[in-house]
Amino acid sequence: MLPAFRTPSQAIPKPFHRICCSASLLLLLFLLATSPQAAAQQAALIPLPQTLSYAEPTYNLSLNRFSLIQINPNYRDLLNPSVEQLQRDLPAASGEQQTANIYLSIQPALGPEAYQIDTRPEEVSLHAGDAAGLFYGIQTLLQLLEGDRWQACSLRDAPRFAWRGMHLDVSRHFFSLPELKRYIDLLAMYKMNTFHWHLTDDQGWRIEIKKYPRLTEVGAFRSETLIGRPSAEMQYDGRPYGGFYTQAEVRELVAYAAARHITIVPEIEMPGHSLAALAAYPEYACTPGPFAVARSWGVFEDVYCAGKDATFDFLTDVLDEVMDLFPGPYLHIGGDECPKTRWNACAACGARMQAVGLADAHALQSYFIQRIERHVNARGRKIIGWDEILEGGLAPNAAVMSWRGTDGGIAAAQAGHYAVMSPGNPCYFDHYQAQPTADEPLAICCYNPLEAVYAYEPVPAALSAAEATFILGAQGNVWTEYMPHFDQVTYMALPRMAALAEVLWTQPARRSYPDFLHRLELHSRELDARGYRYAPHFKKTD
Ligand code: ACM
Ligand code: ZN
Repeated sequence: MLPAFRTPSQAIPKPFHRICCSASLLLLLFLLATSPQAAAQQAALIPLPQTLSYAEPTYNLSLNRFSLIQINPNYRDLLNPSVEQLQRDLPAASGEQQTANIYLSIQPALGPEAYQIDTRPEEVSLHAGDAAGLFYGIQTLLQLLEGDRWQACSLRDAPRFAWRGMHLDVSRHFFSLPELKRYIDLLAMYKMNTFHWHLTDDQGWRIEIKKYPRLTEVGAFRSETLIGRPSAEMQYDGRPYGGFYTQAEVRELVAYAAARHITIVPEIEMPGHSLAALAAYPEYACTPGPFAVARSWGVFEDVYCAGKDATFDFLTDVLDEVMDLFPGPYLHIGGDECPKTRWNACAACGARMQAVGLADAHALQSYFIQRIERHVNARGRKIIGWDEILEGGLAPNAAVMSWRGTDGGIAAAQAGHYAVMSPGNPCYFDHYQAQPTADEPLAICCYNPLEAVYAYEPVPAALSAAEATFILGAQGNVWTEYMPHFDQVTYMALPRMAALAEVLWTQPARRSYPDFLHRLELHSRELDARGYRYAPHFKKTD
């Protein structure tokens, strides 16, 4: 059972101060009427499009009856999924209202992921640069719907960043395929395009690998789970816990995401965070074991042995199966938080360092990642890893996910490597979003409120314009040590995911936090209707 969260006591700051004289009131009305955000207050559009003007005078288009018209039949394969979505999601025909024509077309000149919408009485046109743009246009059209009425408007839109990501850790707690689909539905609604699926860690291996069945027979289950945070007196719940995804389920989720223009980036952790794998196959550790799937949270010293060739054979076999399942360009290989204690005491690791001429264990970690990278590159794919992969020398073609602040992303971009920004502050959505009172569910630590997420600028100021082109985008991370249920995942992710989506999609000059809060308030009705639990601190209390 999900813990019953009490209503948070914290009120959000009011976006506007009380207006106490008529001159201020007139000024405010003028600003509201003329600012780009003013118009946006009329519909719950998140993320905000790049240009948007509502029809004057405002009119609504009845959609009780509509006909879908595809303008360019040579793009029928691209257009058909959108036609199907509109047929599914638009209100069913009823009554005697007039028919509205909806024109859909692909116009490659608009550019990748771009689209434009124009509405006239009894007519809507959606033109897009490609199938992704069409999909995003439909998300916008659906957000413009109020019941069976369509808010008429004209807009031009395209995203700011190429990597608009959300992560989910399914190792610390396991979530079902239908729950993962609901998570992906959120990404799709917010025009995010990357789902980073953290599939393996110390506390559970969650993906079926045919050549190594013990990974899921043994590695997917732990004997029990820590209660609360680690402390001097650890208490466990005494309940076996686990689960994994079959390869058929993985394929199903990959296809589900692809239909929503979302690429799944699978993460297979190495060389650290590997206790679940070592519990199944202890021969790939530095010491004989035995090992157990972790019952508590933290960083563990038993990691893959970098001295044994058999470790690399095992991992490249695993990655081969993973690459067969996930068609995207990137494979996340972890790389974070790998203690060097075992390596420094291991004869095989010592021999490797000597044979290759490595100065220390950091260089051995770099050797490890570079050897894996060569295998992945040989299959035409790329690796991305947490920013520790910079230590001891970055693999030649690797991208870096900057999580310990922004330094890793800056160093990568300055060295001509791609980087995805997910600094703990503000991109870790496992941190508290309101002051940690008894009203909030237990979280790992720290405080990343909605406003800080909205204010985040993914391109570090330290970068030149040329270096900034290596910042692919950013990502919100949801580590689930303290989230045993999916409702709690969405509570922590929402509405911060919506704020990050706007950061990643909308040009900075368009963004306004008060305006976002206004749209979020309207948009929360959609979250309610779809049954998503979310943190309510943004809601006005009077
Ligand atoms: C991480 O949070 N250890 C990447
Ligand atoms: Zn070793």
